[in-house]
Amino acid sequence: MWQNKIGVESWLSCASRPRKGFVAPVTTRDQLRNQYLDAIGVQRWRPREPRVDEDSKTGSAWSPIDVTDAAVASTPNAAARLDWESLQTAVAGCTRCALHTTRTQTVFGVGSRSARWMFVGEAPGADEDAQGEPFVGRAGQLLNAMLFAMGLKREEVFIANVLKCRPPGNRDPQPDEVEQCEPYLIRQIELIQPKLIVALGRHAAHSLLKTDLPLAKLRGQTLNYHGTALIVTYHPAYLLRSPGEKRKAWQDLCLAKAIMESP
Ligand code: URA
Repeated sequence: MWQNKIGVESWLSCASRPRKGFVAPVTTRDQLRNQYLDAIGVQRWRPREPRVDEDSKTGSAWSPIDVTDAAVASTPNAAARLDWESLQTAVAGCTRCALHTTRTQTVFGVGSRSARWMFVGEAPGADEDAQGEPFVGRAGQLLNAMLFAMGLKREEVFIANVLKCRPPGNRDPQPDEVEQCEPYLIRQIELIQPKLIVALGRHAAHSLLKTDLPLAKLRGQTLNYHGTALIVTYHPAYLLRSPGEKRKAWQDLCLAKAIMESP
């Protein structure tokens, strides 16, 4: 049986008793929220252009980009146009910010290169720094349970972080570290082309969406990351500290499932 210390059972019971009305209907509240997001300049979801061909995976045919290109352009010699192996090599040897002096190793990401789901966290912690894999500590166990509750295995999704190196003492990522590191994440997303990105927590959401809106204002919507659907939910480490919020996180995951089941 699964451990109960991290609340796995509650995820399983969520999974076995999915709520009726899985897909939230468009209500006046939704419309108001959408108007609000439009007003504050956070893009809502619209379907991406269909994939053209395999070449698009090399980056040359990547659809019209705003923040992505701006971010890569502002960080010369970054990850743009690297293939997967070169990207892994670049990350492994990265010295773009001071975190390389304190890391044990970089944490590139784990999972399927053709994943339809991509989960993005904040930065490696001590366990991840030691093992070179994201989300392997207690927060990782809870993330695994969340995946399990949605019928997903770790191997079939891709899990990455905004930062590829551990900030000492697990402090928050600094803006310059995010700026130096985010081309790697951007390139990972370009290469994988997931159908859905799940931003885990405030740092991932802020970095991807270029906003500083509180999580409460970003949750519960299908947002648009350059043509890819993106949802925001709580970071598993926060859920460990605030288990009462798991209910809301489950609603987010239900939204995620609905998006993935949509044509
Ligand atoms: N928290 C994160 O954001 N990422 C990890 O990989 C582990 C904990």
